[in-house]
Amino acid sequence: MNALASEIVRDTSAVSAADLAKGGHFSGTIGDITTPDPRMVCREVNVWYGDKHAIKDVSLDIGNHQVVAMIGPSGCGKSTFLRCLNRMNDTIDGCRVRGSITLDGQEIYDKGLDPVPLRAQVGMVFQKPNPFPKSIYENVAYGARIHGLTNSKAELDALVETSLRKAGLWNEVKDRLDQPGTGLSGGQQQRLCIARTIAVSPEVILMDEPCSALDPIATAIIEELIDELREQYSIAIVTHSMQQAARVSQRTAYFHLGDLVEVGETTQVFTNPRHKLTEDYITGRFG
Ligand SMILES: Nc1ncnc2c1ncn2[C@@H]1O[C@H](COP(=O)(O)OP(=O)(O)OP(=O)(O)O)[C@@H](O)[C@H]1O
Ligand SMILES: [Mg+2]
Repeated sequence: MNALASEIVRDTSAVSAADLAKGGHFSGTIGDITTPDPRMVCREVNVWYGDKHAIKDVSLDIGNHQVVAMIGPSGCGKSTFLRCLNRMNDTIDGCRVRGSITLDGQEIYDKGLDPVPLRAQVGMVFQKPNPFPKSIYENVAYGARIHGLTNSKAELDALVETSLRKAGLWNEVKDRLDQPGTGLSGGQQQRLCIARTIAVSPEVILMDEPCSALDPIATAIIEELIDELREQYSIAIVTHSMQQAARVSQRTAYFHLGDLVEVGETTQVFTNPRHKLTEDYITGRFG
């Protein structure tokens, strides 16, 4: 081997994962996937739609009293991963999920586990507000009735009020609880959906682009609300808005083509991304 060749060999062997990352290749998640106090622990999660491998070996903790933002280009698997966390993917034909996801130590994909109560423990707020075609009161009371959470009308009334208060909607609707939820503004409807989620005492709240159908004022109200909800719940939010991720989250996870490329404290990910793919995305070079 000549001198140059041996130099190249030495150079190549010295390439670290971080160097590779700077070249824009994926070679394993960069950053700390764990949190000191995890509510949910996801390990080597894989998802396929038929032959399409949509989530590849993703491992990530969902921390207690923390908001984790999931960002990345369209189609990278954010919604798919979020849906793994409360087994919503079960409802999609041809979708297979492998790997381990626990909630407070309990494997949520255990065969014997009923996904219906799981979806109360791990609630979901969707992109488009989707109140039921029922009154404001009934929208919030619905889950509590199904899950048998209250014993009397007075208890149910109190639960509806508390949930609407936590969702920051009570003062706007207290005089018209019997009117249809669909008659509220988009931002109010989204807060109604959050109240409905809260009413069944979740531990984790999943939000898939919860503000994308809202104007800036309604968005600001929901963002403030997310910050307050963090005191009681763990939250995972998918967003296309980098500003929103920076404003509401403590941790950020960057997905690319089904891989979890980088995860870290939000300030670090946005000010000093360690992976070239993350850097390209947050500086607007693609996505
Ligand atoms: N029901 C489905 N059947 C088949 N393929 C699907 C299905 N849902 C998603 N996919 C595919 O899985 C991949 C990940 O999709 P997903 O919706 O999770 O992406 P996303 O990051 O949420 O995108 P967006 O930002 O556009 O919402 C994509 O390639 C998508 O086409
Ligand atoms: Mg999506």
